[in-house]
Amino acid sequence: MRTTISDVKRWKKDGTRFAALTAYDASMAAIVEAAGVRLVLVGDSLGMVVQGHESTIPVTLEDIVYHTQAVVRGTKNALVVSDLPFLTYHKSPEQALDSAGRCIQIGGAQAVKLEGGRSIASTVKRLTEVGIPVLGHLGLTPQSIHQLGGYGTQGKTVSQAKMILEDAQALEAAGAFAVVLECVPCELAAEMTRTLAIPTIGIGAGPDCDGQIQVIHDILGLFTTFVPRHAKRYATLAEAAQQAIEEYAAEVTSGVFPNEEHSVAMKPDALAALREQLQDLR
Ligand code: KIV
Repeated sequence: MRTTISDVKRWKKDGTRFAALTAYDASMAAIVEAAGVRLVLVGDSLGMVVQGHESTIPVTLEDIVYHTQAVVRGTKNALVVSDLPFLTYHKSPEQALDSAGRCIQIGGAQAVKLEGGRSIASTVKRLTEVGIPVLGHLGLTPQSIHQLGGYGTQGKTVSQAKMILEDAQALEAAGAFAVVLECVPCELAAEMTRTLAIPTIGIGAGPDCDGQIQVIHDILGLFTTFVPRHAKRYATLAEAAQQAIEEYAAEVTSGVFPNEEHSVAMKPDALAALREQLQDLR
């Protein structure tokens, strides 16, 4: 049985802090689930860490549906959330319904994530009314990177902080089951966590959120272009992978790999018969 949004809401009531992570393919999603993580986001961060773009803007709905299918296949118990990409939910609540519907029906996700506050509250209401759970996303919203002018912390002034809090309250009223707070001051995140009935999930938002989320490539050291300040590296897998690949390539060129252990031999009588037939062909 998969984790449900009721479980996530209950964790807040019980004071159970929880870890969430992104995943983009079946093998990694299976590892994430085996490690005990129960909320997996198919984030549009895949645009940067999987596709090599400079931002999340080029990611398409088809990309998210494709990667959601893989993550759903790799998991049994996790709540899988699809990130709705840039401009796939902004035009109208009906457009959002179509996009979210594809993630749920074709992708197999159990929920979708949307960036924005009061400006998308009516869309969140429409989605939740038809039974599509919505995870909000406030603070640094990477799909607005050109408007924000960079990846800096949001909500540092009183007026900005109040706007973010009011946006979160609007999302809660519209039916969002939780809200991601990305790159906001830790004091603001703590206040919001106290004020809101729904769980807050922080990334670069300090230790007082109900849950935390990270991009898996950041915590495993798989994305080496830059390390965001809010990410802690728990492994250096890019280095380990490069070392392993260098060893493999060296063994291939030197003739050490593959050997009998990695090869299949023919039965002697079959081999003899084959050689005889080849002889006739020469
Ligand atoms: O796309 C993503 O991975 C995200 C997380 C950073 C929350 O939105």
